[in-house]
Parts: sequence; structure tokens; C-alpha cells
Amino acid sequence: MILSIESSCDDSSIAVTEIATKKLLFHRKISQEAAHARYGGVVPELASRLHAVDLPRLLEEAKPYLDDLKAVAVTNAPGLSVTLLEGVAMAQALSIAKGLPIIAVNHLKAHIYSLFIEKEAIFPMLVLLISGGHTMVLDVKGFDDITILASTMDDSFGESFDKAAKMMGLGYPGGPVIEKLAQKGDPDRFKMPIPLQHDPRIAFSYSGLKNAVRLLVQKHQPLDDRTKADIAAAFQQAAIAHLLQKSKKIFQQVRPKDFAIVGGASANMEVRRAFANLCAQFGATLHLADLPYCADNAAMVGRCAIDAFYLERFSDALSIEVSPRTDNIF
Ligand code: KG4
Ligand code: ZN
Repeated sequence: MILSIESSCDDSSIAVTEIATKKLLFHRKISQEAAHARYGGVVPELASRLHAVDLPRLLEEAKPYLDDLKAVAVTNAPGLSVTLLEGVAMAQALSIAKGLPIIAVNHLKAHIYSLFIEKEAIFPMLVLLISGGHTMVLDVKGFDDITILASTMDDSFGESFDKAAKMMGLGYPGGPVIEKLAQKGDPDRFKMPIPLQHDPRIAFSYSGLKNAVRLLVQKHQPLDDRTKADIAAAFQQAAIAHLLQKSKKIFQQVRPKDFAIVGGASANMEVRRAFANLCAQFGATLHLADLPYCADNAAMVGRCAIDAFYLERFSDALSIEVSPRTDNIF
């Protein structure tokens, strides 16, 4: 079995996965969302202190498995260094106490493996990763063969939902709140610019949309509920239209047979609907993680670690890096 630890941002999570069968034997997660909500975003110092409280509690629950482990896996990058350290320190202690190798797991790769929990991996696959930290289209040919085809030039998709929500006083995380509010809104009352619409570059940009929201919020003070819903609907429509326009360009070049959306924002039903249509248009199969595995969790870290285990990608307690270079992220 592999015990896996996730603490890259605001979720403390531990899982235990059986190596040979890929079966998830134990999986628990404590989200810190409520603690960060009043600040409108993640406060790293607070996140770090909460991981220090919650991770040992989860480890205590996983105690029945600790004598059967072959390795301990931990997210080591990318993420908030002060929170990554909490998980890595726990992995180092387990490694030393039990004589276990450490498997350092890249957070973005773990999101890809959220598709394969208790399943065989499917490669090659074109993957859209949309989270609070990243917006990327990846050509995934195998565990070690991942190419970034497009990424954001500024804010990420999920981050733009968080910032739009903060500007309207809707709390954190913004994604689910905006999605819910948008259902009641008129997406056509306000005109939002679709980013990079006439720009040939295959890249994403969300800072312009954020400014469009800011201007509307300023103009319509004090915001009534109808206006908030209409802004949310217009914003979400433009944000998804941008994802779709640029992804379509990539589809025209790559013609993928298998396409997936991963990351916290892949829980958005409008995103899922829009890409189901795009895939139908191109005859591609759409793969999605089950909803509990879209946002950060240790089950995906454990599943990714199984492939790393067979490739013998081991570190030891004294050599594992936290938040290493970000230029060569895979
Ligand atoms: O993958 P994740 O849990 O953490 C990171 O690795 O960043 O993603 C969290 C992000 C947040 O920005 C959150 O607002 C966004 O995913 N998100 C959504 C939805 N649910 C979560 N964005 C849009 N629509 C949603 N339904
Ligand atoms: Zn994530």
C-alpha cells in the first residue's frame, strides 16, 4: 500500500491505496474553505497552521494501515511552499520512522491522475487543467511525457471566479458561488469581452475579464441581487467561451481521440456541457473525474504515486525537494 498526503493549498488530505489493485482503501479530506472565506482567498499562514492541526488527525485515522506501507507519497510542488512543507515534513517523519521510500508527486500530474482512480490510465490524452493556480492544455502521452500546449498569461480560470466573487462580496471559493448565481442571471444584460478573441495566439488570459467585472461592480453600486446574478452569468459565459475558443483551435490541430478536463474548476457543469459539445463535434471521448476528485485530494496523489512506484521514482527523507523549480514543471 501507499499512503499519500496532500497539502498544496487549502485542503488537508490523506489516502491509502493498494498498489497492485489500485483500490482506494482510505480517503479523508478536511477542507479549510470556511476558514479562508472571510478573507476572500487563501491566507498562507492560516492554511499552514490548519494543516499542522488537521494532517496529524487524518494520520491518526489512517493508523490501521501504517504497518503495511511500501512507500509514502506527498505533493511537493507546485503550491504554497509553507503548506507543502507541512505534508513533506510528515512524509519525512514517516519515511525515517518506518524506513519507507518517499514518492514526490507533482500536483498537476496528480490532477491528471484524478481521472484514473481505481482505473487503468489512458494515454495519449489531451487534458485541459483548470484550477485555482493553473489553466493549461496538456498533451499527455505518458507518465513522463507531458507537453504544455497552452497556458494562461496572467490569472487562472478558477482564480478569476474567486476574484469576481470577492469583488461582489460573495465569499471564497468563488467558483461554486458564481456558478450557482449565474443560473439565476441573464448572461446577455451586460456585454463582457471574450479574451484574446481576435488574437491568433493559443493562450489564455483572464485579467481582462476580471477588470470588466470590476468596472460593472463599480458602476452599479450598491449591487442588488439581480445585478450580481447578471454579472455572474455574463462573466461565466465569457470565461467559458474563451476556454472553448482556444481549445477548439487545439482540437483542429491535434484531433484528439480522448480529451479530459481536470482540476477544481472541472466541477463546473457549464464547462462540462460546453466541452461535451466540442467533443461531440470532433468525435472525441470526454473524460471527467468523479466530482469528489476534481478539487485537491490525496486519492489522486496516491493513484499517481502507483505509476511512479512501478517506475521506481523514489526520494528519501533527506533529499526530497519542496517547491522545486517552476520552469520545468513536469
Ligand atoms: O484544483 P483546486 O481544488 O485547487 C488548485 O489546485 O488550485 O481548484 C480550486 C479552484 C478555485 O479557484 C475554485 O474557485 C475553482 O477551482 N472552482 C470552480 C468551481 N468549483 C471550484 N470554478 C468554477 N466553477 C466551479 N463550479
Ligand atoms: Zn489543485
